Amino acid sequence: MTNNSDKKKKHEDIHASDYIQKLRSKIFNKLQDILSRFNRLNLLDISYTCIKELIINASKANMKRAFFAETNLDINNFKDWLKGSVLFKEKLDEKNLKIYTKKIKNLNYKIDTRFVFNKKGLRVEVINNTPIPKIDEVRMRKELAAAMKYNSISDYYMDHVDNIEGAGMGLALIIILLTNQGIDPQYLRIGSNGDNTIARLEIPFTKDYIPYRKRKYKEKLEKEKKDIEISQPFATEEFASTEI
Ligand SMILES: Nc1ncnc2c1ncn2[C@@H]1O[C@H](COP(=O)(O)OP(=O)(O)OP(=O)(O)O)[C@@H](O)[C@H]1O
Ligand SMILES: [Mg+2]
Repeated sequence: MTNNSDKKKKHEDIHASDYIQKLRSKIFNKLQDILSRFNRLNLLDISYTCIKELIINASKANMKRAFFAETNLDINNFKDWLKGSVLFKEKLDEKNLKIYTKKIKNLNYKIDTRFVFNKKGLRVEVINNTPIPKIDEVRMRKELAAAMKYNSISDYYMDHVDNIEGAGMGLALIIILLTNQGIDPQYLRIGSNGDNTIARLEIPFTKDYIPYRKRKYKEKLEKEKKDIEISQPFATEEFASTEI
């Protein structure tokens, strides 16, 4: 998304609350700041589009947990999961998003976004404090694997439009955008560790960038200390009413 199309979006989201715009510009400005330091502003559109999607997903995942809990549906039982997923999707209109935003705040569900970078590359982690439900994880992994085979989002859409829930385009879009930009889609990793889910996206700036998954543990710790520029918590309530 370009600066211009971002401005356009603001007009489309005319009914959305101010804080969404604030969060969007916070992320956009942060990325712009980092990328301009390393003369990589050409990567701004793609990184912004991807990170925004990861934050929306994290926010939706926390809301889905809250929804299943209050409707007494078991998120790990396939029949319940199917019923709950369809109902949850129907429920997510603008008004309910605000209500669920309050609910997840009361449940202390959160999202943290951190930016770690040096001259060789940028790593962004979006962390929400609920684990991916097993059924969602299986579907997500299938979607990720399927998307790796495409270069065009419209082709992907045509082939997958009949899926149970219809959507499931966000991660596929990221994979296809990365592939088209010549960035290895393996740089997108999503997984749960205990209670948290981490969506990690790396954007290499140089050919000798070492992927996070290939670094040794000690080196990771040292790098963390040296390179962490910001560990910025974004409260989920800031992210309600997105274009879900
Ligand atoms: N942070 C997360 N926590 C838990 N589950 C996640 C997370 N991110 C993605 N998922 C799972 O991966 C699925 C696919 O995500 P994706 O963004 O492709 O589709 P979607 O968000 O369902 O729909 P769309 O992005 O098209 O509006 C989600 O439906 C969800 O089940
Ligand atoms: Mg999504």
